[in-house]
Amino acid sequence: MIRRYDFGSPIHTGAVVRELAVENAAVPFFATEVQEGRVSFTIHMDVDDLVFGLGESLRGINKRGHLYRAWNSDDFSHTENKASIYASHNLLLFSGREKLFGVYFDDPGAMEFDLGYTRGDTAVITSENGDLSVYIIEADSLTAICKEFRGLIGRSYLPPKWAFGYIQSRWGYSSDPEVRNVVKEHRDRHIPLDGVCMDIDYMEDFKDFTWNKKSFPDLRKFNADMRADHIRLIPIIDAGVKQLKGYDTCDVGLKKDYFVKKADGKPFVGAVWPGRSYFPDFLREDVRTWFGGEYSKLMDEGIEGFWNDMNEPALFYSEESIAEAFAVADKLRNENLDIHSAFALKDAFNGTANNMEDYRRFYHEVDGQTIRHDKIHNLYGAYMTRAAAEGFRRYDSSKRFLLFSRASFVGAHRYGGVWQGDNSSWWSHIKLNLQMLPSLNMCGFLYSGADLGGFSCNTTEDLMLRWLQLGVFSPLMRNHSADHTREQEVYRFANWEDMRDILTVRYGLLPYLYSEFMKAALSDGMYFRPLAFDYPTDDVACRVEDQVMLGSDCMIAPVYEQNARGRHVYLPEDMLMVRFRSATDYDLTPMEAGHYWIELALNEMPLFIRRGHVVPLAKPAEYVEGIDFTDLRLLGWLDEGVTTTLYNDDGQTTEPVLESGLTTITVTVEGENVNARGEGLTLNVDDVIVGE
Ligand code: GLC
Repeated sequence: MIRRYDFGSPIHTGAVVRELAVENAAVPFFATEVQEGRVSFTIHMDVDDLVFGLGESLRGINKRGHLYRAWNSDDFSHTENKASIYASHNLLLFSGREKLFGVYFDDPGAMEFDLGYTRGDTAVITSENGDLSVYIIEADSLTAICKEFRGLIGRSYLPPKWAFGYIQSRWGYSSDPEVRNVVKEHRDRHIPLDGVCMDIDYMEDFKDFTWNKKSFPDLRKFNADMRADHIRLIPIIDAGVKQLKGYDTCDVGLKKDYFVKKADGKPFVGAVWPGRSYFPDFLREDVRTWFGGEYSKLMDEGIEGFWNDMNEPALFYSEESIAEAFAVADKLRNENLDIHSAFALKDAFNGTANNMEDYRRFYHEVDGQTIRHDKIHNLYGAYMTRAAAEGFRRYDSSKRFLLFSRASFVGAHRYGGVWQGDNSSWWSHIKLNLQMLPSLNMCGFLYSGADLGGFSCNTTEDLMLRWLQLGVFSPLMRNHSADHTREQEVYRFANWEDMRDILTVRYGLLPYLYSEFMKAALSDGMYFRPLAFDYPTDDVACRVEDQVMLGSDCMIAPVYEQNARGRHVYLPEDMLMVRFRSATDYDLTPMEAGHYWIELALNEMPLFIRRGHVVPLAKPAEYVEGIDFTDLRLLGWLDEGVTTTLYNDDGQTTEPVLESGLTTITVTVEGENVNARGEGLTLNVDDVIVGE
């Protein structure tokens, strides 16, 4: 059951697709206070209460005990003290002995989530603008609450099947021969690969929808050659449009008045990669239609996937903020700088980036109203994603395109996926990657993943390998790193063969992973879940922060500590451990419920399959199109027969129907004899263990 409560004059954010009548009564569960335009919602938390949600945000799966701020921020340093990163997913789930409900705050402006930070037993959620809709969601389990919520916000984005392949990316690839070489290095060593991201250096002077004709002289042929080798090129598009006369996107945007404006009616100018830039008003439908159409310049060359970036929007400075910084510098020139003035000088320049004052300098047109940017800040990236997705649909409505964004808001999950932004090559960020995945799923973002190996800082061989072992399971599996960091393509490392072998596990499991993803997407379900969702009465499971459930049959528990030769794992029920070294080299250990120390050499990764379930494994392939989805080995620990379903489709149909993609697999057990059948499938049961 979902009930809606309104405060102030909420604007239509697009997060929700079902129109619910507004209740007259007070919001249940919370004490509500309206003060000076702000609205706050206070709730007492019992000692055992758990708090889940907030999608892409820092810290643990259980969000209790810290302060979070909904304010999409370009922040490349994901440290524990940060309250905001790139997304605002304002869903919370409260679960305890006395309470079980979800609450969604549909508010496009800044919000504060004090979840036991000021007082350990109290959560206070504050809307700074006071214009919002609050949805209270009740059902009899955490999983059921999320399903209700997902029904409210609409079906998740469906990527093409090839987007589940391994993708190599690096900021710095800047020419056709360089990218071809990256592909060749993979193919020569039989390292699986399905895509290469093209970062900002493919563009001409960082201009959206252009490419450098010197370094990419024939993009169409380049792309066609790559496609022949089963590789997709995935260019980046940034939110800011370079200010330059004679650059078509800029000229048209100015002529048609498509950019956000200041109070004086002049277009707002802020700087990003190309220097001074304009920012499309994505909240306007005509602007979305125009900008979404611009992608066709690259799609005409054969491109089938994009990533949208810098769409918080990130601002290095505005004309105003940089002028103020220079004024400070001019004043201090030739001074003897002391503790105060030296810091004032530094702060003047550091403070120009993503400056709050700048976010108050420009306006959007929303349904005929002029709204200052800060009031709807968190929608900007989501509406860029929507512009792109709608453009793709107009371009070819029968085809699924790959799209993932950095900034997002609930609602954008219908149009594209997200990556977790600029993480670092830190061990703690493997764990953070894991912890964000189920929270993102709660909010509808199923297609997601982090920069494997870490974006900032220099990676190490062991970090890369361990991170790939988690990446095997994340729908977006992309190795991405920043310019000037240690090169981290798999083939750069002495132990690349171990990395290649781990990648074969991804391709071997892909029929299963794709199936579980599509089942989740098409039924408003979750691909990743915290253990608390599946074992709500198990107090230990409810607090596990470094293992998550995957699909209906599995649990994952990656190693995320340097020099570890294993890890502690908690099994809430009997499970079969598959210790993978590659898709063809693994061992099987049936394990009863309980606590274990599990040995895992650097080249080994575990998958835990629930007793009574089977998971299919395909023969390894070097690209998704090469996987035989019909020739499968079943892995499992059974006491009796079982039936399961496997979803598959052509990977590109835009309106797939769950039922028509399902094949039933029936496994029978008679004594020691196991048999399995499924229409159109060849099934090997040698890895199905029976009984004790
Ligand atoms: C941003 C993106 C990062 C990208 C870089 C250059 O930092 O988050 O992924 O590599 O910009 O485009």
